[in-house]
Amino acid sequence: MSDSEEQPGADVVLEVRGLTKRFGPVVADSEVTLQLRRGEVLALLGENGAGKSTLVKMLVGLLRPDAGEIRIGGDVVRLRSPRDAIGRGIAVVHQHFQLVPVMTVAENVVLGAEPTRRGLFDHRKAAAEVRALSQRFGLAVEPDAVVQDLPIGMQQRVEIIKALYRGAEILILDEPTAVLTPVETDELLRIVAELAERGVGIIFITHKLREVMNGTDRVVVLRDGRVVGDVATADTDEAGLAALMVGRPVVLHVDKEPATPGATVLEIRGLEVDDDRGRLAVRGLDLDVRAGEILGIAGVQDNGQRELVEAICAMRPRRAGTVVLAGREVEGLDVRALHDLGVAHIPEDRDKHGLVGGYFVAENLVLNRFDQAPFSRWGRRDFAAIQRWARQLIADFDVRTPSVYARTDALSGGNKQKVVVARELSRESVLLVAAQPTRGVDVGSIEFIHQQLVAARDRGVAVLLVSAELEELFALSDRIAVIREGRVAAVLDAKSATRETVGLIMAGAAGH
Ligand SMILES: Nc1ncnc2c1ncn2[C@@H]1O[C@H](COP(=O)(O)OP(=O)(O)OP(=O)(O)O)[C@@H](O)[C@H]1O
Ligand SMILES: [Mg+2]
Repeated sequence: MSDSEEQPGADVVLEVRGLTKRFGPVVADSEVTLQLRRGEVLALLGENGAGKSTLVKMLVGLLRPDAGEIRIGGDVVRLRSPRDAIGRGIAVVHQHFQLVPVMTVAENVVLGAEPTRRGLFDHRKAAAEVRALSQRFGLAVEPDAVVQDLPIGMQQRVEIIKALYRGAEILILDEPTAVLTPVETDELLRIVAELAERGVGIIFITHKLREVMNGTDRVVVLRDGRVVGDVATADTDEAGLAALMVGRPVVLHVDKEPATPGATVLEIRGLEVDDDRGRLAVRGLDLDVRAGEILGIAGVQDNGQRELVEAICAMRPRRAGTVVLAGREVEGLDVRALHDLGVAHIPEDRDKHGLVGGYFVAENLVLNRFDQAPFSRWGRRDFAAIQRWARQLIADFDVRTPSVYARTDALSGGNKQKVVVARELSRESVLLVAAQPTRGVDVGSIEFIHQQLVAARDRGVAVLLVSAELEELFALSDRIAVIREGRVAAVLDAKSATRETVGLIMAGAAGH
């Protein structure tokens, strides 16, 4: 069906025309039209719920469009499955990897498309092909490593190799950097440039404008499912992109008064906690967080941050040490008891620990509080009260959902995050443990969440903030504790600390 006279250029590898997808009354994508050229890195930008992931799912055969067409290499294609899509050379790396943890890199890469020798799996050939791809694209992936032993950034590269092994010429990355450390992010941007250099067309989804500016050639902006901008990256800047996305100027820094800290709310001494595999991850950690301050935790990923947070929040046993909340040792208390004592928690993994996907949005907004006033009276649920409360939070936090009774797992990634944040920030608490609170959230909503974190501090809440983003830590924290190898290596005053110092201490290179 290729009509060459309409081809704007032979180097267009993917063309989307009038693509539309509805979910009941929700129009997720509305007449989306865009082109991707060979060797081009195209940023797909838009607010939470703008329709990015839905578009991707149509492009890789996971969702059927209601209208419009997809052309690959000039031909109209109907993609019924990811297998169809990869047959046409188009693949996606999702945020949740689809790797088998106990298998090796090579086994994962070739899974379902194994090379055989006399009918048997040819392991040596698989490893050789993985090594060749790894070298060609500068991926530095070891074919015989077991996937579960690899850091997230490496697992992501395995997914990329998997796509390349199957002949992908168009690669879609849906928020690949949300789970990466700053160093891993820089490496990924380098890899993406390398892939493009070798002719792969790339669609790159991110909420981080710096990555758009540094790593892409062109930007398509979606708002409410429609394309509202299609510009060369060089012709725009962060402020312009933010305004285009959100429809208003966005303040990219946080206004806050100096903190007036009160009594110590959280006191940790000599804490030792194991990781999932029984290795000591927190190794004798001391920390204090006071009422009315934001204490930021900086550190290279996997230096005990996750285990620290989970131990504080009664999600992981401790091996040694004390955790005292408002004067009381919390040993033996469960998540529910801590909740009732005023511990709010924005967990790093919202899907696993923050939400019940099958529940309504309204239910997730009052999770753990169903049976308490004002949501329950004389042992009976007050649905009107729950609904009113949910409506208010949805408006305040700008959660994009068709109704309070939508299933939470039908929301976009960033909107799920906003549900968790809204719930945890909207209740009375003495301690707020916020782990990656703005992960996956668009710039406009980051601004709002940051203001709310500062407002919680100003109400006297002790805030423990863990973030992989130094920028976020510096914007919000009053003090910054740098964690390294499971201990606090230094505690700095955020006003006088510099990123360089923090970076050096994180890396263990500043004599601390
Ligand atoms: N399976 C589904 N059922 C119902 N509605 C859905 C479904 N999947 C997505 N939607 C809706 O479609 C819209 C677009 O969602 P999509 O996930 O594409 O957004 P997004 O741009 O990727 O957002 P984010 O930045 O938060 O990841 C949202 O309003 C979402 O609630
Ligand atoms: Mg998405």
